[in-house]
Amino acid sequence: MHAQTSRPSANSSTSSVSTTASSAATPPSALPPTPDYDSWPVAVAIAEVTSDSRVLTVTWQDGRVSRYHSVWLRENAADDSTINPATRERILDLSCLEAWPQIAAARLDDSGAVELIMSPEQRTLRFHPGWLRAHDYDNCEDPLAPLVAVETWLGGADAAPDTLDASTFSTTAIDSPEEASTLEPALESLLRKGLVRLRGLPTEPGTLARVAERIGPVRATNFGTLFDVRAKPDPDSNAYTSIALPPHVDLPTREYHPGLQCLHCLENSVAGGQAVMLDGFAVADALRQEDPEAFSTLTQVHWRYANTAKTTDYVWHSPMIVLDDQGQLSEVRIADFLRGPLMTDFDLVEEAYRALMALQGLLRQSRFALRFTYAPGDLVIFDNRRLLHARDAFEGDSGHRWLQGCYLERDEVRSRYRMLQRRQRERSLSDA
Ligand SMILES: [Fe+2]
Repeated sequence: MHAQTSRPSANSSTSSVSTTASSAATPPSALPPTPDYDSWPVAVAIAEVTSDSRVLTVTWQDGRVSRYHSVWLRENAADDSTINPATRERILDLSCLEAWPQIAAARLDDSGAVELIMSPEQRTLRFHPGWLRAHDYDNCEDPLAPLVAVETWLGGADAAPDTLDASTFSTTAIDSPEEASTLEPALESLLRKGLVRLRGLPTEPGTLARVAERIGPVRATNFGTLFDVRAKPDPDSNAYTSIALPPHVDLPTREYHPGLQCLHCLENSVAGGQAVMLDGFAVADALRQEDPEAFSTLTQVHWRYANTAKTTDYVWHSPMIVLDDQGQLSEVRIADFLRGPLMTDFDLVEEAYRALMALQGLLRQSRFALRFTYAPGDLVIFDNRRLLHARDAFEGDSGHRWLQGCYLERDEVRSRYRMLQRRQRERSLSDA
């Protein structure tokens, strides 16, 4: 990792080539393309470039120094020997080059871009300064950091979901600034807290599909693309009754359980049926603090998740708490009514159940529960691999309770959020 340094002297001993921008009388040339469809404003210009055969060193006008390997630059060039200009996908196979790519010459051109001559190809490549700055791996503290920092939360009497007025959202133009003014904070809440509530949407059946598709494609399951959550005869899920539902994620019986769940309230006039949400990451963190052995057990024992419906037979085995390869919480699979018989080592069974009961004890604590009542027009979107949702029992004869639901994937939230940021950069460039 580089510390920031002052501008190097012109006779730096590591410099085989060192050139600053010339004061050409002709108009500056345009900045080169980038190997993507994104926009990269030049917030900080390059002051100077130096290189040896294997490393380009860029000194920025704010004093930052960034190093880039010749092989990395060769692979990430934007010319048509490296990417297909029609798709911006790479066509270069590095192993087909005659030799390891080296920098024969480096200079800053009159547009402020870096121009390299690569050997042995004798190929001239140009690099956009905004793109180089955005991909400065030499000064990147955590390239795997999430788009938005995860923030765990507790419930309690005063807790409420992040809530946005969406009364005009469903009529805004796709990709418009008006759409972004609701969608961007909504997706940010989803990425940060795993939960957001939009209020004031129309209550026509099917509205959910049109709203959800503004984030990304809806994931179909054996419950359909849009499913109706209401008491019905001959139910194929406890969700389709009026009984209370304990805290759970949906579809842990799948290898890849849905990353996102949307529930849109069309009607709610029943007595009871209050919704409850818990941050599964906050519960898992509390278990890690209070009972590290139980936490460890639940990250290792593979439980059996099984669907017992009449016409489908989904089964998957997974730990109840899943960590990523950095040791960070990645997902929880908690749904007591969707677990089959535990099939694990004989000697692990009692500790597995002890750990499960420690977790269940936490789930009953009111400090984790965020409670609210759905109003018609509410759309609650939550991370189904992080949050647990539950429901109080309701009196089926006291009125009507009708939610429509659907699933999407976490990927769609991240992609849409990046696209909103890209559109914002494009607008700031066109306004400049
Ligand atoms: Fe559910």
